[in-house]
Amino acid sequence: MDVARVRKDFPILARPQHGKPLVYLDSAATSQKPSSVLAAETGYYESANANVRRGVYALSVAATDAYEAARARVARFLHASAPEEVIFLRGTTEAINLVATSLGRGRLKPGDHVVTTVMEHHSNIVPWHFLRTYQGVHLDFVDIDDEGRLRMDGLEALLAKRPKVVTVTHVSNVLGTVNPVREIAERAHAVGALVVVDAAQSAPHRPIDVQQLGADFVAFSGHKTLGPMGIGALWGRHDLLDELPPYLGGGEMIRDVHQDRISYCEVPAKFEAGTPNVGGAIALSAALDYLEGIGWGELAAHERRLQEHALRVAEERFPGQLRIYGPPRAADREAVLAFSLQGAHPHDIASLLDEDGVCVRAGHHCAQPLMERLGVTALTRASPYLYNSTEELDLMFDSLERVARLFGRGRAS
Ligand SMILES: Cc1ncc(COP(=O)(O)O)c(C=O)c1O
Repeated sequence: MDVARVRKDFPILARPQHGKPLVYLDSAATSQKPSSVLAAETGYYESANANVRRGVYALSVAATDAYEAARARVARFLHASAPEEVIFLRGTTEAINLVATSLGRGRLKPGDHVVTTVMEHHSNIVPWHFLRTYQGVHLDFVDIDDEGRLRMDGLEALLAKRPKVVTVTHVSNVLGTVNPVREIAERAHAVGALVVVDAAQSAPHRPIDVQQLGADFVAFSGHKTLGPMGIGALWGRHDLLDELPPYLGGGEMIRDVHQDRISYCEVPAKFEAGTPNVGGAIALSAALDYLEGIGWGELAAHERRLQEHALRVAEERFPGQLRIYGPPRAADREAVLAFSLQGAHPHDIASLLDEDGVCVRAGHHCAQPLMERLGVTALTRASPYLYNSTEELDLMFDSLERVARLFGRGRAS
């Protein structure tokens, strides 16, 4: 992959930070956007903007057609069997809230078990906690091993309680662990559980095949996948989406409303109350076009190189000082590098790196149960993406060396 050429497609990367070149290594929080995505969103507002589904005039029909074409594009990316299985929402958080709330209203009873894992982002914990708090559902957590892999024996033990739902992240936003979703789904289905997959950190890096994953619901966010903020999608099995009660109520999701009764639209409209983010959906489909244009194989090879480089340089330049969390081999991990540097607080690290133009994230990464499991309160996380180079990772390590010196624990050499 020609990184220099790719970088030209991302106007923001030319913006300096503190007078230095911008080294953007926070793509797991949100990715930058290529010009084609920006143009798709602007183009929609310049030439096709009208509210969808409700107008009889040509402009509204054009907007509706463009919106539905975006749905078909996302369905193709996810390998969904039909566009109606794709619900446009604000992102992963809203998608998982929808699934948890609708299952809570339609299927779960007090005393039922829901299984999640200690490596989840809060958006795949808190909606289930709501069911625990307000509906008496039990919430069980699968543990990880010392290399940050899911304990499949732990999953097996929890499946013995015959949970109604197993919900798991495809890729951890802290450890980079890639979970064996298909195997998890098979085991969960064998005990009658529904399977929910948080694909927020996998969708930016690999095509998602919902048939192959074997799950019942899969959620992802557009803004981490080169698309704009405020748009994402939930894929759900058609029969389940048909069966489940709606999440938000309002315009465009109802068939009839009377004083004493209501009936709902078919999916996907049933789950899309109110005015949707049409421009966002169109721009998301442009983002998927861009990623496919790069080629998933090319992208994976580039990202593997970045991971291998980072793991090797960290070992060479910070022996015994810098600890990277998650599976030790680049082949077993994706997307993120969360680390601790001896003697330095993650927030100090991130602030000092910022002075050198390097953007990394510090904190609990919306994964407090995982931080507790790892015995830390915070970590620093670098998350490179297609527009990052090994040279930029070296700049980060140069900056980290300055941090290590400042905290009095520079290299022994
Ligand atoms: C694994 C994972 N799940 C869910 C989310 C939430 O995504 P969003 O804020 O786009 O809804 C994130 C965001 O960082 C994430 O990393």
